[in-house]
Amino acid sequence: MPWVSRGGGAISSPVIPRLTGRDDMAVYAVWNNKGGVGKSYLTFQVASEYARTHPNQRVLVLDLCPQANSSSMILGGIEAGEAAIEQLSGMTPPRTIAGYINDRIVSPYVDTHSGASYLTQARTINNAVPANLYLICGDEELEMQASRIQLACTAGPPNAWQIVHTWIRNLIDDVRNSWNQQDITVFIDCNPSFTVYTELAISAADRLIIPFSADGSSKRAVRSVLSLVYGVVRRPGQIQSQYYRNTQQFLMRLPQIYSYVGNRLTQMNSSSATAFRTVVLEIFAEVFRVYQSNPGLFAIHPGGSPAPINRATFRAMFEEQINDANTASVVSGAKGIPICFLTSGTKQFSGRTVQVNQSQLDKQQPNIRDFVARIE
Ligand SMILES: Nc1ncnc2c1ncn2[C@@H]1O[C@H](COP(=O)(O)OP(=O)(O)O)[C@@H](O)[C@H]1O
Ligand SMILES: [Mg+2]
Repeated sequence: MPWVSRGGGAISSPVIPRLTGRDDMAVYAVWNNKGGVGKSYLTFQVASEYARTHPNQRVLVLDLCPQANSSSMILGGIEAGEAAIEQLSGMTPPRTIAGYINDRIVSPYVDTHSGASYLTQARTINNAVPANLYLICGDEELEMQASRIQLACTAGPPNAWQIVHTWIRNLIDDVRNSWNQQDITVFIDCNPSFTVYTELAISAADRLIIPFSADGSSKRAVRSVLSLVYGVVRRPGQIQSQYYRNTQQFLMRLPQIYSYVGNRLTQMNSSSATAFRTVVLEIFAEVFRVYQSNPGLFAIHPGGSPAPINRATFRAMFEEQINDANTASVVSGAKGIPICFLTSGTKQFSGRTVQVNQSQLDKQQPNIRDFVARIE
């Protein structure tokens, strides 16, 4: 079935930012409408590797998922990281995203400029990550705040919805100003469901990174992303998302799609691996069809390559594949050691002793390095 806009043709007019003339770095939201596809894991790996390869820049991770999984990894994993989250969220006010959101619930329509006071330099807690990696820590309290964020969207001035949907962009500006640096790169880890705080995250982003895994529900989720954010509907007459309609009403910018990431791919030469691969290729093929009818939704990567004109050039720009590194991935997340920094050998965590093999590291380290090299 072809992808159509409300009017039945290709979408031609969503308000999409043009990045020409910018020299500041971009804000990336890592989102898919499905859980367990690797949003948090990839946020941790990609932000860490980006920080390592850009030592003269500061890199910011915003954790806008109440599960705080990426925060946990960035702050040291299942022991140290979880303890750090407890500590940060127990402060008064909490030095987490919930602290900032509280400020904005109290002052919804007047910018508090308070975002930078909720930053944590990850290295002060986890010495396995680069010193230039900063975090606004996730907080389960965000879930409790959702209804009050929602209320702020409907009360107040006529453009209350729009103002509330710039809270996270305001937060990023606060950090830029406090660092006296405009060119910062930001990665936002998102919650799967399209709740109000996910809307805030998407509204703050310039670009979307969309991880998916090889299964049917991941395929549906990839479609959901397109309909929720860009109003791409599958049948003429189908209702467009309220989020999309509001962004159009208030002439707000939408992020552009930067990459689709087939994640946790297995390289085993088995029939299940082949079936796996078929699903991944189907999803990529579908995404390419969306590109053909709605090229404006996609961010042509900086670096001089022209807009893709066929599947091969599309693949080179927009398709990423990340292998499953098995035990090495588990150890990386559990100990908060980015995969590109992890070495082979015997590792201990939570009273367990496990073996990380170089062959596992070799499966994933090159994928992460290559992907990060393609991020501006
Ligand atoms: N490329 C990968 N290789 C191995 N394990 C992975 C990979 N990506 C994600 N995982 C694991 O899969 C699980 C789900 O990933 P997670 O990042 O929490 O998903 P999401 O944030 O999308 O819900 C986690 O246990 C994570 O460590
Ligand atoms: Mg997650």
